[in-house]
Amino acid sequence: MYNTQEVADELVRIDRNVRPLEGEPKRALITGSTAGAGQLVAAYLLKRGHTVVAHARDAQRAADVRRDLPQLAEVVIGDLRHLDQTRALVEQINALGEFDVIIHNAAEYRSSGPELLNANSLSPYLLTALVTPPKQLSYLSSNQHLDGGLSLEEVRSGGGISYPDSKLHMAMIAMAVARLRPKCRANAVNPGWIPTWMALLDGPYSRDDLRAGYMTQVWLAEGVEPGSDITGEYLFHQQLETRINDLVHDESAQDQLLAAYAEQSGVTLT
Ligand SMILES: NC(=O)c1ccc[n+]([C@@H]2O[C@H](COP(=O)([O-])OP(=O)(O)OC[C@H]3O[C@@H](n4cnc5c(N)ncnc54)[C@H](OP(=O)(O)O)[C@@H]3O)[C@@H](O)[C@H]2O)c1
Repeated sequence: MYNTQEVADELVRIDRNVRPLEGEPKRALITGSTAGAGQLVAAYLLKRGHTVVAHARDAQRAADVRRDLPQLAEVVIGDLRHLDQTRALVEQINALGEFDVIIHNAAEYRSSGPELLNANSLSPYLLTALVTPPKQLSYLSSNQHLDGGLSLEEVRSGGGISYPDSKLHMAMIAMAVARLRPKCRANAVNPGWIPTWMALLDGPYSRDDLRAGYMTQVWLAEGVEPGSDITGEYLFHQQLETRINDLVHDESAQDQLLAAYAEQSGVTLT
């Protein structure tokens, strides 16, 4: 079991109701697309006629998502808790050629220590730095980023950070990329508290709309609707998020975080 009934129902609705987009199809890669919001974005983009590459943590989950979404062009494999696997994933992705869109969606919730740092913070950084830059990038953050901190010493030493720290880091990477790579559009997204398996770990009380929680990623990926060709923004349900940690847009803090990643990994983001 890896999806809630709400996600399973939404996958059926997408399959039955979503029609192809008229216009240029995109090539999209979504990390953590074997379940939840990532799988819904993958399913939606496929039905719209885009080419989608999924990402799974291991061969079993890759087989699961191939069964669930048989139209996938490819499934790349790597457990983001292990940086050697993330680096191997970079090779797999770059071998597939340039993407229009990459959505950094995968995240661990109940992990801790170096595993959470690697999966939720260092791996998205490494993938950003080492994968051929796409035209558009989205980074899944969370309301919990408001309680996050930089935790620079933990990043430098490969120690443990909290989930809120990691969701702050995702938003800060997005803003740094938007600033350092003017040819890319990069944004952070808070999907809301939506009824995926991750939210179920906190109890069956998620309060936000599942569809609104993944359609921002679709809207940004397609980039055809008015207002969707934005960069350097933190979004909630296709609107600018109003409650943002001050560190997100602090360029000096972004540079300190990037320097800590570079010190830890030996890889510099340019
Ligand atoms: N649900 C919410 O209320 C909520 C709120 C705020 C932010 N978010 C963010 O939204 C994004 C999507 O979350 P979700 O709710 O859709 O969660 P989910 O249902 O738990 O899905 C998470 C996805 O990430 C993959 N993943 C996790 N750790 C991985 C690893 N180490 N290596 C490779 N893949 C890994 C999972 O693979 P498996 O299927 O193999 O586990 C799954 O495909 C996350 O970034 C999350 O932080 C969610």
